[in-house]
Amino acid sequence: MNRNTAALFCLALRFLICEGANPCCSEPCQNRGVCTAMASDTYECDCTRTGFYGPNCTTPEFLTRLKLTLKPSPNTVHHLLTHFKGFWNIVNSISFLRDAIMRYVLTSRSHMIDSPPTYNSDYDYKNWEAYSNLSYYTRSLPPVPKECPTPMGVAGKKELPDAKILAEKLLLRREFIPDPQGTSLMFAFFAQHFTHQFFKSDMKKGPAFTLAKGHGVDLNHVYGDNLERQHKLRLFKDGKLKHQILDGEMYPPTVKEVGVEMHYPPFVPESDRFAVGHEAFGLVPGLMMYATIWLREHNRVCDVLKEIHPNWDDERLFQTTRLILIGETIKIVIEDYVQHLSGYNFKLKFDPELLFNQRFQYQNRIASEFNTLYHWHPLMPDSFHIEEEDYSYKQFVFNNSVVTKHGISNLVESFSKQIAGRVAGGRNVPGAVMHVAIKSVENSRKMRYQSLNAYRKRFSMKPYSSFEDLTGEKEMAAVLEEMYGHVDAVELYPGLLVEKPRTDAIFGETMVEMGAPYSLKGLMGNPICSPEYWKPSTFGGSVGFDIINTASLQKLVCNNVRGPCPVASFYVPDIKDTGSMIINSSTSNSRSSDVNPTLILKKRTTEL
Ligand code: HEM
Ligand SMILES: *[C@@H]1O[C@H](CO)[C@@H](O)[C@H](O)[C@H]1NC(C)=O
Ligand SMILES: *[C@@H]1O[C@H](CO)[C@@H](O)[C@H](O)[C@H]1NC(C)=O
Ligand SMILES: *[C@@H]1O[C@H](CO)[C@@H](O)[C@H](O)[C@H]1NC(C)=O
Ligand SMILES: *[C@@H]1O[C@H](CO)[C@@H](O)[C@H](O)[C@H]1NC(C)=O
Repeated sequence: MNRNTAALFCLALRFLICEGANPCCSEPCQNRGVCTAMASDTYECDCTRTGFYGPNCTTPEFLTRLKLTLKPSPNTVHHLLTHFKGFWNIVNSISFLRDAIMRYVLTSRSHMIDSPPTYNSDYDYKNWEAYSNLSYYTRSLPPVPKECPTPMGVAGKKELPDAKILAEKLLLRREFIPDPQGTSLMFAFFAQHFTHQFFKSDMKKGPAFTLAKGHGVDLNHVYGDNLERQHKLRLFKDGKLKHQILDGEMYPPTVKEVGVEMHYPPFVPESDRFAVGHEAFGLVPGLMMYATIWLREHNRVCDVLKEIHPNWDDERLFQTTRLILIGETIKIVIEDYVQHLSGYNFKLKFDPELLFNQRFQYQNRIASEFNTLYHWHPLMPDSFHIEEEDYSYKQFVFNNSVVTKHGISNLVESFSKQIAGRVAGGRNVPGAVMHVAIKSVENSRKMRYQSLNAYRKRFSMKPYSSFEDLTGEKEMAAVLEEMYGHVDAVELYPGLLVEKPRTDAIFGETMVEMGAPYSLKGLMGNPICSPEYWKPSTFGGSVGFDIINTASLQKLVCNNVRGPCPVASFYVPDIKDTGSMIINSSTSNSRSSDVNPTLILKKRTTEL
């Protein structure tokens, strides 16, 4: 019987024998086994190399059983890493121990990610199209098959709750809940700026598609995501990017000057229409602040390289500087950004050599689920305090004049002082960006995401056994129960935002255990981290290599603002310290051999 006749046969007899036609709807295969639906309502689980066997891949092999009994739970590991400061201070100072632990962190996390990538939102089986079409985000779990009894497979109700009502009842902020880890707006805008280079959905095609075909840290948000745009942004002199000088400081050029497309609403005056790599970075001054800082850093590093290589042409200076900035970004993300986010007392280290004797693929594909989980809009405050002023969303959004009015230094100082919102724990999305949260629920449904619990299993966590187990309280648990019917039907994104946070933490367990693998794989899978690239000559010699290996958020700011540099911090320092926020730039770890930013900025004025 060929497939069509079988389907017809099923259609005719569907109430008798073929009901629930796809047996994979119930996700019978455990431990990352692969489910294939067979004819006549049966399925097969492929348990190859899962360490398990049996019809549902549930019986552990001997070695697996041993590992399982020895392996501590993610929450235990988290507790160890975030406590015992004295112990970790010793570990951090013994380099072979620090290296061994960092190597373990990197390998254990990246082994959670399929590499090369497998599924996408249109293909729930492996095939060449899904592998090779870079316009798709990949998927860590295949979409729920189309012909399942419920939207989440077999669990829960036939219909999902209305996204708007769900968002109002569970996600909308009542009163600002500050992040107990002390995360600052400086962090929040870094997160938004950094991640928009690889989360760049192509909404014309749909949420399953991306415009960022580099699938990683390629700095397309600085340089443009295609060659034409890059060329419009380049000065074609000394490797530099086009810029303008306002009030003696360097800012991005205007749209009118360079002719690249940017998304600005009609009311924005021409002089405020700055042009940068990413089309949407006019959205908030926090993004434009970082865009300006990285623009200055690019042009600064060009000067440093030209000093050592006076014979290099524009192209080589540009290209090499770009690689250095990619390296700086990864260094800052691991050692400042992830370090802060993790809350670990263990000191993380960016050192590609740690992976040189490991099985590790230098490639990366951004997953849809990674994009979804990174919708950290609860970080946003109710209003933005800059110097003596307080900006509402209406005054802040699409208002680049905030950047030039206050200047980068004051913005950094203010954003480093203002605390961001807590992400997990529910009810902390500001009303002004609620529509984004609703969209992300709707898009997850379009892409047929599996449930929160399915993702917990995929990333080696125990599925939640009840709604109260998920939220750690009763009120939101009751709302969830009414909406979803069964805890196995709770969707990924709402689940992440209502999950009980870890003690005094910004996130719950699922956000960290899913986010960390994607993040570390994306950072270390970058080609510059591979053995053939990771050497001084790639970066113009030891000077360029040193710029990467000594990069920090503080230094990035100090090297690129005029005058004394402000504290730049991903967390709000102790209230006690805030009296003297201006630090002396010579006491920061900014090396005095670096070209003085004030001097460069002065020089540039004459150059234009
Ligand atoms: C006032 C600040 C912010 C505003 C007004 C804003 C607004 C938006 C809007 C309008 C979208 C597009 C939604 C859609 O069409 O589906 C979006 C997407 C997104 N936002 Fe925000 N957002 C803000 C802050 C942040 C922050 C701090 C983060 C932190 C990581 C963030 C992460 C994201 C991500 C990952 C996406 C998806 C991007 C994509 O798929 O292309 N946003 N935001
Ligand atoms: C495998 O899973 C199916 C569906 O979840 C279940 O009915 C069956 O009893 C399981 N078989 C074994 C051997 O565990
Ligand atoms: C990728 O897939 C989409 C949707 O099928 C299609 O429109 C697009 O042309 C494909 N891209 C390439 C490069 O084949
Ligand atoms: C934009 O910011 C400027 C400078 O702080 C402020 O004077 C102005 O009122 C803001 N624009 C809007 C539309 O609120
Ligand atoms: C910075 O520190 C140096 C040396 O400690 C000192 O001479 C200088 O006056 C300080 N500058 C400022 C602005 O505090």
